[in-house]
Amino acid sequence: MSETHSTPEPTEEESPGTTTSTPTTAGETEEEVQESWVDYDFDGPTKFSVEDLNVYYGEDHAIQNISMDIPENSVTALIGPSGCGKSTFLRCLNRMNDRIKAASVEGSVELDGQEIYQEGIDLVELRKRVGQVFQSPNPFPKSIRDNVAYGPRKHGDIQSGLLARLLGDDSGEEEDEIVERALRKAALWDEVHDRLEDNALGLSGGQQQRLCIARALAVDPEVILMDEPASALDPIATSKIEDLVDELSEDYTVVIVTHNMQQAARISDQTAVFLTGGELVEYGDTEQIFENPQSQRVEDYITGKFG
Ligand SMILES: Nc1ncnc2c1ncn2[C@@H]1O[C@H](COP(=O)(O)OP(=O)(O)OP(=O)(O)O)[C@@H](O)[C@H]1O
Ligand SMILES: [Mg+2]
Repeated sequence: MSETHSTPEPTEEESPGTTTSTPTTAGETEEEVQESWVDYDFDGPTKFSVEDLNVYYGEDHAIQNISMDIPENSVTALIGPSGCGKSTFLRCLNRMNDRIKAASVEGSVELDGQEIYQEGIDLVELRKRVGQVFQSPNPFPKSIRDNVAYGPRKHGDIQSGLLARLLGDDSGEEEDEIVERALRKAALWDEVHDRLEDNALGLSGGQQQRLCIARALAVDPEVILMDEPASALDPIATSKIEDLVDELSEDYTVVIVTHNMQQAARISDQTAVFLTGGELVEYGDTEQIFENPQSQRVEDYITGKFG
């Protein structure tokens, strides 16, 4: 409707008639999202291509027509106020919303060019490729080893040493190797290698969260979805998770939800800003989003004026 927002710099002392971008506490304005704000141009391969994605919980429209491409082997941060649909969006990337009765998903999500919302997709295989780490560490009440080996055992990735040798098949890793590899990648090995049979619930919160990351890594995923993985942790444990995310992005595509603006600025390559109503308002290079946002609402949100 209004074209007054083609210039990102608002003039402070304008007459009230033109200040349509003044946000309410919920960030609602008449600002119209410009296509260029969400059109992120990157080099390198695309991991996810999301097209016209809508999610409803019954009548409630939680994700509004979102289209965005997510680059491979990089960190994408999703930020925005509570209730704006970040977790809902994240769950669309490995069809975890399928488990929520009230949720219905429309639109398209391609992983490496293949539609994941089509009949016949193997959801177990999909979730093996696209792993997930949750807000609160949720290890099983089992040994550290059992936690890490859980997925590979379930997926049959572990070859029994003897059987494999008898069959002349040495392609599979043995359990010890998988457990060590995953714990090393999750930067936990040094702290737990001599207590693998101990119950995982005896670890500190930060260690438990790295264990959950190790558990996700053990099945050799391509993508790791993280929903506020550090929000329950102290600053030191948080910085370990941040270092880890940075390292993981060399081999994995990481998509991470965070409420912590500094964290998003520190660890991500690109940032997507969701605002109230499940709208993607701006998506681009993290530096650009934080230093020179194009949307007034995004600027207000980032500078703490609402949310
Ligand atoms: N299982 C559900 N059933 C019904 N409505 C839901 C469900 N999960 C989320 N919603 C609604 O969908 C909207 C988006 O929720 P979502 O959890 O995705 O937000 P969020 O951005 O992750 O918020 P937060 O930052 O608080 O975690 C909210 O209005 C929420 O109430
Ligand atoms: Mg959430």
